[in-house]
Formats: sequence, structure tokens, C-alpha cells
Amino acid sequence: MLFGVDYYPEHWEKSEWKEHARLLREGNFNVVRIAEFAWGRLEPNEGRFDFSWLDEAVETLAAEGIRVILGTPTAAPPRWLVKKYDVYLRDKYGRVRGYGSRRECCANNRYYQERSRVIVEQLAKHYGKNPHVAAWQIDNEFGCHDSARCYCGHCKNRFAQWLTERYGTIDNLNQTYGTVFWSQEYESFYDVILPAYTSCEGTYGDLWAHNPSLDLDFYRFSSDSWARYQQMQIAIIRRYSDAPITHNMMGHFSDLDYYELGKSLDVVSWDNYIDNQWNHNTYENTAMAHELMRGVKNKNFWVMEQQAGPCGWDKFGGTPRPGQLRLWTYQAMAHGCEGMLYFRFKSAPFGMEQYWLGVIDHDGIPRRRYYELQQTGAELGRLSYLFADSQTLTDVLLVKSYEHVWSHKIKAHVQGFDYRELLYVYYRANQHLGTNPACGPETMIDGRYKVVYLPACVIVSEELEKRLAAYVAGGGTLVLTYRSGIKDGGNNMITETIPGRLRKLAGVTVQEFDSSPIEVTLTDGFGISRLWRDILETETAQAVVSYDSEYYKGSPAVTVNPYGRGRVWYVGCDLEEEALSVLVKRITDEAGAAYLPHPSGTEIVKRRSGEREYVMLLNHTPDAVEMGVSGISLLHGGQFDGTLGGYEVELLETS
Ligand code: GLA
Ligand code: ZN
Repeated sequence: MLFGVDYYPEHWEKSEWKEHARLLREGNFNVVRIAEFAWGRLEPNEGRFDFSWLDEAVETLAAEGIRVILGTPTAAPPRWLVKKYDVYLRDKYGRVRGYGSRRECCANNRYYQERSRVIVEQLAKHYGKNPHVAAWQIDNEFGCHDSARCYCGHCKNRFAQWLTERYGTIDNLNQTYGTVFWSQEYESFYDVILPAYTSCEGTYGDLWAHNPSLDLDFYRFSSDSWARYQQMQIAIIRRYSDAPITHNMMGHFSDLDYYELGKSLDVVSWDNYIDNQWNHNTYENTAMAHELMRGVKNKNFWVMEQQAGPCGWDKFGGTPRPGQLRLWTYQAMAHGCEGMLYFRFKSAPFGMEQYWLGVIDHDGIPRRRYYELQQTGAELGRLSYLFADSQTLTDVLLVKSYEHVWSHKIKAHVQGFDYRELLYVYYRANQHLGTNPACGPETMIDGRYKVVYLPACVIVSEELEKRLAAYVAGGGTLVLTYRSGIKDGGNNMITETIPGRLRKLAGVTVQEFDSSPIEVTLTDGFGISRLWRDILETETAQAVVSYDSEYYKGSPAVTVNPYGRGRVWYVGCDLEEEALSVLVKRITDEAGAAYLPHPSGTEIVKRRSGEREYVMLLNHTPDAVEMGVSGISLLHGGQFDGTLGGYEVELLETS
């Protein structure tokens, strides 16, 4: 199993490398991710390459049994490059996203593409057959620092080509976009604008001023642009190397379609910072992020950067408590991680990230974080047979669509609606119940799941309609919510009665909706709806919960419809946490889906590796907890008596 750190030999004197390699080996690390920001040292002037220092670093590490994941260094162009070529992103106000940090280049910029091609080819040629290269990482965190979308001339031209491929004729585009609205009909694809700053923006608060079809296509195009740029690098590396290729994604990040980006990768990896300057993540949110990353390829993944200490750019987040680094590692493993690297090894005293503490501090002395990871590495070394090709056993799937993220963002329906928050609310209710849902794309929907949650499925393609019908007809339980089936692929409102393609499945129509910012009570102790209420009429469905106030008192709010051998729930309004828990439990029970009860603040995850089944217990609280299960510990050998210490983990044999 890969167990390692992110290491930057170029940040240190050569004389220190040996000592670092020794500490790494003694820390039980066996791999480092390397060179992903070293373009300036690898190509100090245009066309002059120097791999000698990296060769030496790779050899020094190899001498201690440590392999490398080699990063292509294209996320940070060297100074000479930007002085000679204008490769910068332009923001929607036409401002240059200039030099001084990183990720300032545009995916469609032909100079950037060309210089990227050259450095990647040189690296691939030089290291393609090197036995110490365990894998490749393409670039670094595509899209981070709000770099997914650019409004430059290169993008405008490329967008015209992209639209030509998609629409064929400009009439077709005009028709799809409805550009007749406000006299926006285009004469040619090169005429089509990028949705940059325009007169309406900002005049009515948080407003997207452009044609919503154009906005959605620009999101799609921008995402495709990075997938294409990545593909360009992958094709080069494949010519020289058989090692697996990955890219480090960012969990919940949604400016790029990770399902598309993942297609050409051998393995997905991601960067997991639980507590930092910007975020104090809950354990449920982190668990969901792991599942989302697993869902990208429906395959186990690596964590390429796992938090190793207190971190932030100009302010620190929280300091990980003793036990938490180990706990977070096991949490990743519980959700499908097969390789774990910590960011970073030694903390940098200079540069933007001088506050981003690594495994060892600025003074290079190993302290508790190093020793905790050393212990973790030793344990995982012994337990690796439990994780390779393992799977989490679950009957439940939660679907996320990037198109839906974008469509809901472009027009958010009502103040306070947030599609990703809605997904999280359903995830959390399931986590608390103990169904440990998988998360992923629509294409994962199949009969292996007893329950599929598809919240706010705004755009329903014909293909999805068929997939859902087959799934439910075959016996599956599908859960839909308000704001589903309302738009077409052009991001326009459908002209059939809502929920359009989902109507037969759900057995309801939406007669009206109430988006007023008021509190509406629900029957059956279901509390209050505050955000959105579909006023439903049942066709073949049955009402489960109804509205108990307002002019639509008595109309169904939550319904269930038999369809084939399965059932479809339609949740027409937002629900309070407690009501949602009750509903999720009922849905789970009625579908016969499995769940593992567990105390609050903990996880119990059932897994399988080969013939062997086991459960992982994770206590995210600082206090000892009675877990309600016992058994033989795979971690310690003896009997586990049911009490799990604060920030502790346990693995129990079940077969
Ligand atoms: C990201 C990047 C790293 C580093 C860390 C900390 O995850 O991939 O290079 O910048 O954040 O900020
Ligand atoms: Zn651009």
C-alpha cells in the first residue's frame, strides 16, 4: 500500500536529503509525491532542461526504499515563461489574473499548451522507464483558486469551435438558447460571446445576468477545456510510461465535472484538508467527500494530500488533536482509500505556505505528529490486505450531478437554496442512520442499490429517464425532491407539466409551488418547511405527509408511488433535520436496506475485502463512547469490549 508524503527536495539543501529520506523510511513511509511545482528548476530557461537534481533526489529516496509519484509541474509556470508569453487567465471583468502565486494559466492558451507539452514530454522521456516512479500526477488541483473559467480571446475562439461541434448550425444554437429574447440572435459561432461582465450584473444583488443556456454551456465548455488539457498531458506520458496516472482532485469542489476529468485517469486521488483557515469540516462532510471521490470512477482512490498539521495561508485553522491524524487516515480507508500521502513532509519556512504545517515542523525535529503517523503506517502495513480492492457494503446511493450544481447555481430558485447543501443534508441523515451511502454519478444507478437518492434532479435526459424507470421497475426505491425534472438540457424550463419526465415515476404533478419565505407546518409531526413547497396533486401516488397550513392546507407534501416492482418517493418541500431523519429511516426500512446503528459522532462502516468482511469503528469525538458492538479486533488481536476511546479507531472481524 502506498503510504507517503508530499516532498519538495527543491526547498532544501541537498545535504539534507539523506536525512529526510532516513526519517521517511523510519516513519514507515514508502512513497513521495514530488516535483509538481518545480517547473522553474526543471526548465530554468526555455528549452534548457535540468533533471540532474531530481535524478539525485529520486536516487537518494530510492536508497531508503522510497518511490515517487511524479507530478507534471504545469500548475506554476516559471518566470521566464510568463515574461515571454501571455498565458494569463482573464476574469469576467477583463482583468489579468497576473503573476505571483500559481494557477494563473488558461487551459485554452496555445502558448501555455505548447510549453506544457514540451516539459511534460521531456519529463516523460526522462522518467518513463525509471523503476522508482510509482505513478504520475497530472498538474495540480485543476480549477483551484477560481481558475476553472477564463474569459480571454483564446477561450472565446475555442468556445466557438466547441459550440460548432455541439450545435452544428447557428440556428440550432439560437433555437436552444432562445436568443430571440432581448434580441440576442447570433449570426455565427464566432459571434457568440463569453458570459463576462454585462449591464445587469450586480444591479439586483446576487444576479446572473446572462442567458442561462449560455451560462450553462460556458460551464460545460470550461470543464471540457481542462479535461482536454489533461488529456493532452496523459497522451504524452502514456507514450513513455506504463505507470498509473492520477490527478489530485478536491472533494466537494464542483467547478469542473470530475466524472469527465476522471475518465482518462487510471486512479483518482484527492486532497483532504479537514480543518484549516477556511473550513472546519464535520466528519460527515469529510466522509461524503471521500465517497464522492470514490464515485468518480466507482473505484477506490488515493488521498494525495492529507492534512498533517495545523494549516492555513495567513491564519491557522485548528490544531489536530492527538489521535486525529490517525483517525482521519482510517476514515479515508473506511470509505475506499487505498493509498495515503500527507501534505507535506517538512514545513516550509518561506513562501505562501509557511503556515501550512507538515509532518515535521520548520526545525525538522520529529514530534508527536510524526510519531502518530509512524504508528499509523506500521498498522496499515499490517492491515493492507483489508484495503486493497476492498469495498464498503451499502444498499444506498446518493447521486450528484455537476450539471445540476451548475444549473442550480446559475438560477437558484429561491434565496437560501443550495443544491450541494441539499445533497449533504440527505447524506448526513443517512450517515446518522448508518446506511453509509455511496455517492456518485447517475450512471451508478443500478439494481445493487436498494435506495437511490436523486435530490433536485433539475435536468432529466431521456437516457436518465430510461435508467430510472428500469431501476424502479426492477424493484428499486427512488427518492426525488422538489426542483426535479423542471428543465431541459439547454437549461430552459420545460413546457410540459412538472415534473416532466419524472411524472409517471413519481405519480404526481406539481400544480403550484410556494416559494414565499414563510413557515408552513406539516402533518404527522413533520415540523416546518421554510424554503420551498411544491403543491402536489397525486395521480397514482399516495400522500404520506401533507401541508397543515396556508391556502394549500391538506395538499400532499411527501408522496410515495408504486412503479413496477419498486417505489418512488417525492419530497415536495424542505424538511427540518429531525423530520428528514424520520423519513429517511422509513424509506430505508420499507426498502429493506441495511444500516448499522451507532452513537452520534461516530461511524461504523461495514466492508469487504475478498471473502473477508469486517467493520471499521471510528470515534470522531474526544470522549470514550460505547459503540454497541464487540468482536475480535483486527488491530490488536484481542477481544474488543465495546468501548472506543476518544479519536480512536477499531477494526472488527465479522467473517
Ligand atoms: C493544495 C495544493 C497544495 C498546497 C495545499 C495547501 O491542496 O495542492 O499544493 O497548496 O493546498 O494550501
Ligand atoms: Zn482563456
